[in-house]
Amino acid sequence: MLLLNKFPAWLSAFALLLLTQEPVSTSEVTACGVAVDPPANIEITDPGFLGYLSIHWTLPTSLQNLTGCTVRYQLRYYDTYEERWRSVRTVKLTYAAQFDPEKPIKVRILTVLKCACTNGTEVQGEEKEWVYTPEPTGVAESRIRDFHCVYYGKEYMECTWESGPGQPPDSQHYLYYWHREMDETKECPEYIIFSEGRRGCRFPRESLLEFSKFNLCVNGSSPAGSLKMAYFSIEVQNYVKPAVVSSVHVSEIDGELKLDWSPPSGQVPEHCLEYEVESSTTMENGKQKQENMVLQNLEDTSYSVPREVESQKTCFRIRSKVNMYCADGGFWSDWSQTKCTENKETQCIPKLTYLGLVGLVVIGIAGVIILCLSLWILKKISIKKINKKDALYSLYKEKVNETMPTILSPIFK
Ligand SMILES: *[C@@H]1O[C@H](CO)[C@@H](O)[C@H](O)[C@H]1NC(C)=O
Ligand SMILES: *[C@@H]1O[C@H](CO)[C@@H](O)[C@H](O)[C@H]1NC(C)=O
Ligand SMILES: *[C@@H]1O[C@H](CO)[C@@H](O)[C@H](O)[C@H]1NC(C)=O
Repeated sequence: MLLLNKFPAWLSAFALLLLTQEPVSTSEVTACGVAVDPPANIEITDPGFLGYLSIHWTLPTSLQNLTGCTVRYQLRYYDTYEERWRSVRTVKLTYAAQFDPEKPIKVRILTVLKCACTNGTEVQGEEKEWVYTPEPTGVAESRIRDFHCVYYGKEYMECTWESGPGQPPDSQHYLYYWHREMDETKECPEYIIFSEGRRGCRFPRESLLEFSKFNLCVNGSSPAGSLKMAYFSIEVQNYVKPAVVSSVHVSEIDGELKLDWSPPSGQVPEHCLEYEVESSTTMENGKQKQENMVLQNLEDTSYSVPREVESQKTCFRIRSKVNMYCADGGFWSDWSQTKCTENKETQCIPKLTYLGLVGLVVIGIAGVIILCLSLWILKKISIKKINKKDALYSLYKEKVNETMPTILSPIFK
């Protein structure tokens, strides 16, 4: 049962410790004439899943010949990541739980009896506690620092770290990970490498499992010996950072400022997002006013706010985050580009002058054209008149000369 080949040295020591410290039947609690002892042969084994340990035990010998009873076990263990005791009751003889292998492991267990001879009431035996404090191994101060993970747009996750202050030169880091659908730990699929060496790991979406423990360990080797192991256990859905909100558009209709945007790209479902809209308004008196609004209206990518009477210009920017319906945590995206309403003053005046100029030019040109046309027409008419006059005159003259006495001729001159 002991998977000693997969055991880190300290854990095998721990398992042996438990075996040698097995409690003897000293229980004060009795029921139906037998002692209600704690379970026997308690063992904690490490299947090599980076802190996901299995606890096993057997029925106490005092209860072996008991009939007409149900025997259950109450197991409590200290969750070092959540920093609280967790409690489970089970009829089974095994339980697996997540521990932080860098911290003391504390387990408490007792037997619960329910028999016909106790009239169906529950009898709890005495509780036994085991504590194991791991011996620190590795070069002093060599444990990595500032480890954190960000799951970008639910497309890929990056976990990064800084080296420990006491890290020897020429050290090499290794990252291993595990989740419950994996048979064994795997090494980082793609290291993020800086000039100082490996400083992070990039996980494609396919290597991750949501709503389940995702265990990580960063260790290392150096000419001066191995580095101190660092263990982490996260649930990846709580580390999502959505992409930047794009296509932000501001419009003004009937005194209302309306903001529209597109959800961020990536794999975060739209109903899992909340948005924060930040507005900065410049008032006519030059004062600035800033407001932030968190919008949890699911699947709504627009926002309206009445334009303030005294306002001159309003600018908006938006960011998003996974909402509480989809995860217990997350990171805000970066802010979108800032989009503003048109400035009230610069909106009117330039338009007017522009329109005025165009108008003036058009009117001017039209005036000139009309003037030219009228002159031309006038000229044409006057030429025609003169021509006509001349023609008539000569015609007349001829006729008159033919028929009239020469005394009348001066009238037509
Ligand atoms: C249970 O029964 C077996 C066989 O009858 C006996 O050898 C053993 O001592 C009993 N155990 C206890 C705890 O009474
Ligand atoms: C169970 O019930 C019987 C009768 O009601 C009573 O005499 C006896 O003392 C009870 N036993 C326990 C353990 O409560
Ligand atoms: C780092 O940890 C992994 C997983 O526990 C182990 O297989 C590997 O040998 C360790 N490497 C070093 C250098 O300690």
